[in-house]
Amino acid sequence: MAVEWLMGNRLVGFSRKKAMSHQQAVLRRKQAFQGYEMILVTGGSGFIGSNFVLDWLCQSDDPVINLDKLTYAGNLENLASLQGNTRHTFIRGDIGDATLVSSLLNEHKPRAIINFAAESHVDRSIHGPDEFIQTNIVGTFRLLETVRGYWSGLNVETKQSFRFLHVSTDEVYGSLDKGESAFSETRRYEPNSPYSASKAASDHLVRAYHHTYGLPVLTTNCSNNYGPYHFPEKLIPLMIVNALAGKPLPVYGDGLQIRDWLYVIDHCSAIRRVLEAGRVGEVYNIGGCNEKPNIEIVHTVCALLDELRPRTDGRSYRGQIAHVADRPGHDRRYAIDASKIEHELGWKPAETFETGIRKTVQWYLDNQSWVSNVQSGAYRTWVEKNDQGRV
Ligand code: NAD
Ligand code: DAU
Repeated sequence: MAVEWLMGNRLVGFSRKKAMSHQQAVLRRKQAFQGYEMILVTGGSGFIGSNFVLDWLCQSDDPVINLDKLTYAGNLENLASLQGNTRHTFIRGDIGDATLVSSLLNEHKPRAIINFAAESHVDRSIHGPDEFIQTNIVGTFRLLETVRGYWSGLNVETKQSFRFLHVSTDEVYGSLDKGESAFSETRRYEPNSPYSASKAASDHLVRAYHHTYGLPVLTTNCSNNYGPYHFPEKLIPLMIVNALAGKPLPVYGDGLQIRDWLYVIDHCSAIRRVLEAGRVGEVYNIGGCNEKPNIEIVHTVCALLDELRPRTDGRSYRGQIAHVADRPGHDRRYAIDASKIEHELGWKPAETFETGIRKTVQWYLDNQSWVSNVQSGAYRTWVEKNDQGRV
């Protein structure tokens, strides 16, 4: 018998039996843990992870354990507003450290793990793939093994309501030709860079742990994110930061490569929704339906800066654009078909590209000290300043 749930402005069909049993399981667990249920987030000090942790703590009462190795991309300054917040516990460590992860799981008994931890930059994977293999493949494997050990020892009810949500990328599907349909969840995997190949391998491991051991997994494959706390090695923040510094804006090749952009908070809301109602073992593609050529993105950033922080000489930032050598093996086009998550779970992005990119440019203008700390590496000393790595 179907029951209707109001999600945003959409009505979503759901099985009453399934919905009730999940709700009851969650309620019973909440009672067992004094009303709170811990979640464990890995990589929660990086770009998307830190946005997720901040957003989660606004949307939910459930506390977060944040396990992050703090590579160059992990930055506790992103979470500075949580200082003194007892619902956030930061642990510095590697997802591949079975002893540490096992003790965290046994101590905190999280009801879910959301795995953001990864090496994430395609250009870095081309120059040095080792870390990508180590974290994205070996690290995910070790995490899955440790989680499997913990999960196997849970009672039947807790086992059933537990979730392992793996955050992945649209890059696993390879490159689309012009006019080809957007990536659906059944699209063949064709990763082209060491980064995307390592993420594809991790997705396969996650899938296998469900198929073979019954681990209750969920996988999300998302398109390009943008927004606050985006490390300025990636296209959008790099263009903003270079423009303001009077440096060249390096556009790879002809700049006509297409990416499908999603505001990071919309990615976070999609993950929350999948965690809440996604069907175990399923994959959900997440995207903003915002396909844009890179050169258009750069022009948009320049136009916003021309309006919000004009150059002193009155010229446009566009004059700083420099076409440079292309990325080896550069994927030409990504596009996500997000109809499954929309129809099944009632998720839709809240931001348009126009609202999201304006907010993003404004955020970088308002947070110049964050940018200079990242550029100087000063944020690394933050760890020592914060009670032996705990915020
Ligand atoms: P990021 O590079 O900004 O952050 C990664 C975080 O993981 C950092 O805090 C880093 O310290 C941590 N980390 C790295 N190795 C670790 C390890 N071995 N153990 C524990 N922590 C470790 O990445 P991001 O852009 O925030 O991406 C997060 C996840 O989302 C990644 O899995 C990425 O593949 C995926 N994703 C990213 C995008 C995007 O546009 N950025 C889009 C789709 C999917
Ligand atoms: O599609 C999702 C992926 O998006 C994520 O899985 C990755 O973790 C994330 O880094 C991102 O990968 P991209 O390679 O698409 O992002 P990046 O910002 O590095 O580049 C976006 C596009 O801009 C790409 O076509 C390369 C181009 N580019 C990038 C940089 C850094 C430039 O033209 N100039 C640049 O300086």
